[in-house]
Amino acid sequence: MRALLPAPSDTTTEQVDVHAHYAEGWVEPGGVRINFVTSVDGAASSAGLSRGLQTPGDNAVFAALRDLADVILVGASTAAAENYRPSDPPERRKVIRRAYGLAEAPAIAVMSSSLRLDLSAELFTAATVAPTLVITGSSAPLSRRNDLIDLAGTTTRLQLIEAPSGSDGEVDFAATVTSLRELGYHRILCEGGPRLFGAAVGAGCVDELCLSVSPLLAGPGAGRIIGGKPWSDEPTPRLTLTGLLTEDDALFCRYRVQNAA
Ligand SMILES: NC(=O)c1ccc[n+]([C@@H]2O[C@H](COP(=O)([O-])OP(=O)(O)OC[C@H]3O[C@@H](n4cnc5c(N)ncnc54)[C@H](OP(=O)(O)O)[C@@H]3O)[C@@H](O)[C@H]2O)c1
Repeated sequence: MRALLPAPSDTTTEQVDVHAHYAEGWVEPGGVRINFVTSVDGAASSAGLSRGLQTPGDNAVFAALRDLADVILVGASTAAAENYRPSDPPERRKVIRRAYGLAEAPAIAVMSSSLRLDLSAELFTAATVAPTLVITGSSAPLSRRNDLIDLAGTTTRLQLIEAPSGSDGEVDFAATVTSLRELGYHRILCEGGPRLFGAAVGAGCVDELCLSVSPLLAGPGAGRIIGGKPWSDEPTPRLTLTGLLTEDDALFCRYRVQNAA
């Protein structure tokens, strides 16, 4: 992997330190960082999964971003479609995390307003090293909320976080970020999906977008990386390119969102 920005690698063979590249300006002060992979024609998935878009370079960036996060936040659909599991990185990655002053594993946070979750999944029953957090809103169905509280009573590393819901039933993203910060999660990595990304930007909460562009065309049919309800009439956010890596014709862009608080 070579750097093109902020400082180009000296030779075509020089390997960039991916962790150092993404740690700069992030570990302190933290923030809300979004990570997506897309095809050159803007698809968010191939055959319903992001896996079809991934490259070895994207996997390296994905892992490094996780290694630099306190919490990984995803929407319920992505957690189910991509089979999210409890967080327990291998020792070599725990060593990297400790070197950056982070806990040995990131928490996994799943956002759902319906709480229509498969509570028998390991993500909810088998978290041991770092907690699994379920974030829901005031409109969550009471019976499912109670099921989750019962399960959390028997599974020590499962935790329910409740935030206000808007009139549309969606969880207030800004309130979610505040709750996560109050719990000590200052480096929030959001791995999507598109609907959650849309809500995060719509709430003005995104500081950074780490976008992998894979050198392929996914063709018609696949959705884009931003979904959900339309934003208000405010000017759409502008992005500043602060980092750019490349490997095997793929690009790994690091954008700062200009209107972030
Ligand atoms: N290319 C990539 O890098 C990438 C990354 C992630 C996902 N994906 C793909 O994207 C697809 C899933 O897309 P998606 O847009 O449906 O995913 P999503 O945003 O992960 O999930 C949507 C669900 O998350 C919950 N949610 C999202 N925002 C919410 C909010 N503000 N308040 C309350 N709940 C909220 C809701 O769950 P409830 O219905 O339970 O309330 C909603 O139905 C999959 O095919 C996945 O593979 C691609």
